Amino acid sequence: MIFLGPPGSGKGTQAKLLGARLKIPQLSTGDLLRAAVRDGSDLGREAKKFMDAGKLVPDDLVIQLILGRMQQKDCENGYILDGFPRTRAQAQALEKAFQVKKIKIDAVISFEIDEQELVERLTGRRVCPNGHGEWHIKFHQPANPGFCDVCHAPLVQRADDREESIRVRLAAYRKDTEPLKAFYQDAKLLRPIPADGALAEVTQLIETTVNKLR
Ligand code: AP5
Repeated sequence: MIFLGPPGSGKGTQAKLLGARLKIPQLSTGDLLRAAVRDGSDLGREAKKFMDAGKLVPDDLVIQLILGRMQQKDCENGYILDGFPRTRAQAQALEKAFQVKKIKIDAVISFEIDEQELVERLTGRRVCPNGHGEWHIKFHQPANPGFCDVCHAPLVQRADDREESIRVRLAAYRKDTEPLKAFYQDAKLLRPIPADGALAEVTQLIETTVNKLR
């Protein structure tokens, strides 16, 4: 399954919830890239420049990273791709890899939401500096506000959640990623869902969509 949508539309939050319910992993290229940055790998150093500015990381780096992750054992029974593909070149690379492995995409869930709502969601997001998760100052608070539920470290704001980077990310979404909706519509895989409701409402809409696939 692919989760497609603009930054802040809730892809990551919902992919984690659905993945836990279906017992399949959520593969987020954003999380993989941030882990590479934390590890200080060559790929991480190269990616960081683009990520902090809100720009898309070059296709070859992202494709290499995600195709490698898909080879791992926990992916044998399926997975949710969160934030990949984001360009036509990525969609084509995925199609090619899936053809070779005879893997079928069940659905592309498209998160539909107004841009104004996204800015509030993104500027209010706070993340664990050790990669344990993310919360929101208003919509999704940790048990002890300001601190990670897992390791209790003080939460921080992502460098690309500042308003100037958010504008660049939204522009990149409109230019490079939104056209993928037509690509997957043509393949009869697109399942649009309204993503502007409360977290639990969006979860319910996704559950209903996924149940119809069975
Ligand atoms: P990535 O981490 O994927 O960021 P993104 O797509 O910009 O997505 P976000 O994580 O910001 O939003 P989301 O839709 O997952 O929403 P979330 O659930 O977190 O990528 C970061 C960067 O990495 C990119 O800018 C790019 O540089 C690079 N990159 C990644 N993939 C790439 C690719 N394929 N190609 C090239 N470059 C790539 O929710 C956001 C906030 O809203 C949270 O605080 C959450 O608690 C809150 N929230 C969620 N749902 C609701 C709700 N229903 N109501 C109220 N609040 C909610």
